[in-house]
Amino acid sequence: MDNYNNRDKILSILYESFNQWVSGEDISRKLCISRTAVWKNINILRDAGYLIESSNKSGHRLISSNNVLNEFAIKRGLSTSVFGRKNILIFKSTGSTNIEAFKLATEGGAEGSIVIADKQESGKGRMGRLWSSPSGKNIYVSLILRPEIPPYLAPRLTIVSAVALSDTLIASGIPAHRIKWPNDILVGDKKLSGILTEMKGDTDSIEFIIIGMGVNLNSSLEDFPTELRNTVSSFYMILNRITDRNDFLRQLLSCFEKYYNLFLAGEFSTILSIWKERADIINREIKVQQFNEIFTGRVIDLNEDGNLIVDSGGTIRTVNSGDINYL
Ligand code: BTN
Repeated sequence: MDNYNNRDKILSILYESFNQWVSGEDISRKLCISRTAVWKNINILRDAGYLIESSNKSGHRLISSNNVLNEFAIKRGLSTSVFGRKNILIFKSTGSTNIEAFKLATEGGAEGSIVIADKQESGKGRMGRLWSSPSGKNIYVSLILRPEIPPYLAPRLTIVSAVALSDTLIASGIPAHRIKWPNDILVGDKKLSGILTEMKGDTDSIEFIIIGMGVNLNSSLEDFPTELRNTVSSFYMILNRITDRNDFLRQLLSCFEKYYNLFLAGEFSTILSIWKERADIINREIKVQQFNEIFTGRVIDLNEDGNLIVDSGGTIRTVNSGDINYL
């Protein structure tokens, strides 16, 4: 707890006794601060959105994080042993969590460290696009990975992440979704989440990998720019209720760690089979858009790396990058 300020320490104490009264005197004794300082910090926490009840007789009790992103809420009941156990950096606002995670990893940030933001000023999407990141509602998270694998296996982690995210959706009340190659998640034809995988290394070895995930949780259609409104969806639009971001992140970390460990144990084929079941892509006619060309064809299968095998007018082509659309 040495790195935390008194406000964080108070929050941590309140989380340890979630929903139960903790006396101001106990807090002030534990932290060696005055009871006035305790009150002042409790009020600041309340201003930040936390629902904290206070009484002269009983002290203080935390009733709800009220969807304010915070480390202690994520860690409460977290079942992982690596992800979310190291650094958890939370930004009120940042350019991109992937950029922040990249910086942290470059400075030595351990595998399992995560970077989260309430809002991204210029969230990065695939293929140079922007990821719309309205404030205070959705999930923008980046994970640091340091797998000891050859670089050519790194793209498989995109499939691993998509299956982990898909499991998280099932656990969070959205079982009816499809994965769109390589790693978008759609409900109907609307996009609910996207994943951006970035890597630092050379041809022989990987220094680190950043898995960035954006999930539209509590945003309404009006939170998105007009040009996206026909193509996006959110948990809120589907379930008509608010989803707690800390709970969602905890679930996501646990699903991610489960599949990442399976991948490291050499079980990628199991993960790929799950991906195929949830993607409904085999035999579909698609349009492929790559950097310098567009072509159409029928998907025959996925190879063992998760690349699409497409029959394009009799020519069999392997697709390992780019965008696809169903025809
Ligand atoms: C896509 O184009 O579908 C990928 C979107 C990935 C967005 C996430 S949000 C968290 C992380 N930080 C970023 O800047 N991008 C990813």
